[in-house]
Amino acid sequence: MTFDDQEYLNRYPFIERVLISSEEIQKRIRQLGNEISNDYKDSTPIFVCILKGAYPFLADLTRCVSVDHEVDFMAVSSYDGGTQSTGVVKIEKDLKSNITNRDVILVEDIIDTGLTIDNLMELLQTRNPRSIRVASLLDKKPARTKEVPLHYVGFEIPKEFVIGYGLDYDEKYRNLPFIGIMKG
Ligand code: IMP
Repeated sequence: MTFDDQEYLNRYPFIERVLISSEEIQKRIRQLGNEISNDYKDSTPIFVCILKGAYPFLADLTRCVSVDHEVDFMAVSSYDGGTQSTGVVKIEKDLKSNITNRDVILVEDIIDTGLTIDNLMELLQTRNPRSIRVASLLDKKPARTKEVPLHYVGFEIPKEFVIGYGLDYDEKYRNLPFIGIMKG
């Protein structure tokens, strides 16, 4: 059974409002899929889904991509070496694919400070891919502390905590088809 955005709002009164509706998300993903298909006409890119939050985006995005491609999965956690998060990533689950000489598209749910994706890109560069680009559904630009090149961005959002479409609060609500803001 699936529910539309309004039904979810009725079920979950703690959601203050819908920031980006499911319809807007799907429309934007179709545009990104076309853009990526044009950019990778002569290549077979590997889409690397950064778990857990990027799984719905990966699924919908790759269904809008018309060039041959592969998918792989990676899970990382921000390693806290002391009292402050350094942004250094620890690999919880590594890729199965060899990315040497391959075109890699990292698929992320959200770029917040930018530390995680910056460190991850640095780490993957040591494996000598032909190229690495980032596709992120959301860009929380006002929270950025590390500038990172983002090639494909769905939406820029304000510095608010959002849930849904892969993004969790306490591991829940990833299944919401829209991006919502929780009541403070
Ligand atoms: P960054 O290293 O600060 O860019 O961290 C990005 C990660 O933080 C994302 O992959 C999310 O897992 C998490 N995150 C950042 N902002 C939000 C949010 O608004 N809702 C849920 N998770 C978030």
